[in-house]
Amino acid sequence: MRDSKSLSMSHGALRVRHEDYTESVRLESLRFRQVELARVLRGSRALEACYIKHKMKTTEAIKVTNLGPCYGRSFSDIPLSKELAELVDAKRAVKMFLENNIQTEFLAAMMEGRYKSIDELIKRNNIKQIIEIAAGWAPRGMNMTVDPNINYIETDQDAEEIKEKISIQKKLPRTYHPNLHSVLFNAITGEGIRDIVEILKPGKVCIVHEGLFRYFSHEQKSRTIGFIVDILKKHGGVYITPDIHTRKLTTNLNKVVSMNEMNKKHSELTRTDIDSNEFTDIPEAEKLFESFGFKIKKYKWGDLVKDFSCLKDISLDKQKLIDAIEVISQREIWEMRLE
Ligand SMILES: C[S@@+](CC[C@H](N)C(=O)[O-])C[C@H]1O[C@@H](n2cnc3c(N)ncnc32)[C@H](O)[C@@H]1O
Repeated sequence: MRDSKSLSMSHGALRVRHEDYTESVRLESLRFRQVELARVLRGSRALEACYIKHKMKTTEAIKVTNLGPCYGRSFSDIPLSKELAELVDAKRAVKMFLENNIQTEFLAAMMEGRYKSIDELIKRNNIKQIIEIAAGWAPRGMNMTVDPNINYIETDQDAEEIKEKISIQKKLPRTYHPNLHSVLFNAITGEGIRDIVEILKPGKVCIVHEGLFRYFSHEQKSRTIGFIVDILKKHGGVYITPDIHTRKLTTNLNKVVSMNEMNKKHSELTRTDIDSNEFTDIPEAEKLFESFGFKIKKYKWGDLVKDFSCLKDISLDKQKLIDAIEVISQREIWEMRLE
């Protein structure tokens, strides 16, 4: 006969199992509702296209950091950049964290240069399968999937934003493409990686991110790089990122904008220490990526982006733009392959 202690333990175990079961039913029904919502938003291909099944929460602060790049790109000829900025009211970023810290001209030049240098390297590599980590409001996925041969997996950690982006695609003409997949993926914890792997087709992949590593410590960066390496080992391909932030870069940028001030404000908002997330110098950055077996090829943004269309925007100060373009043209983007 069991004593009262073992009886209560087995009741405890039963309760835990019951709670597990209830939780799994709850999650399943939540997932079902989310997928249904996505189906309504996107049409019949939604079940394949949308994987919002994990519970991840982004702080409001990190969310607003999306708006700056979105606003910056709105002065360019990057397709859909103006429309997206208007629909998400990206200009509010200026009030939130850019005011008095950074010139609009600098932001416009920087975001156009960053976006277009990635595009140029994707094009040169001629790889038809792309994973974009932390895509935020970037329109690259919508733009590139006009080509039906591209398999594009756009990811971010923010479920609400992914839903909003999908609903925006419905409002904008010619932006819904069945070869664009929106996946919830946390680049630190790896949540969602299975969904990415399921969508990948055999063959090479190009993995990109921009504006992400500023917010990550070296340990967090290593986790992201580890996930990228796992995918590249299986598929082959290339890893492209302009997210190489060094102390020297900040010092250089300080010549044209108050980058120190901007970092301070961003650190407060996102509760991350952006200064200590920066690499001390280029050799330290190289060491990190090379420790994963990457061979690095470096390009200057200015060598990849010939046309800064923001120069044509009459609302911006031309001289300030020219000064900003001169500085940011020296910035590097790295193209990396496993040796
Ligand atoms: C400054 S925004 C850049 C967005 C976009 N790449 C662009 O250039 O417009 C930073 C992005 O990183 C995403 N992010 C932050 N932490 C993340 C994490 N752990 N995993 C994946 N994405 C993350 C945020 O949700 C946000 O979309």
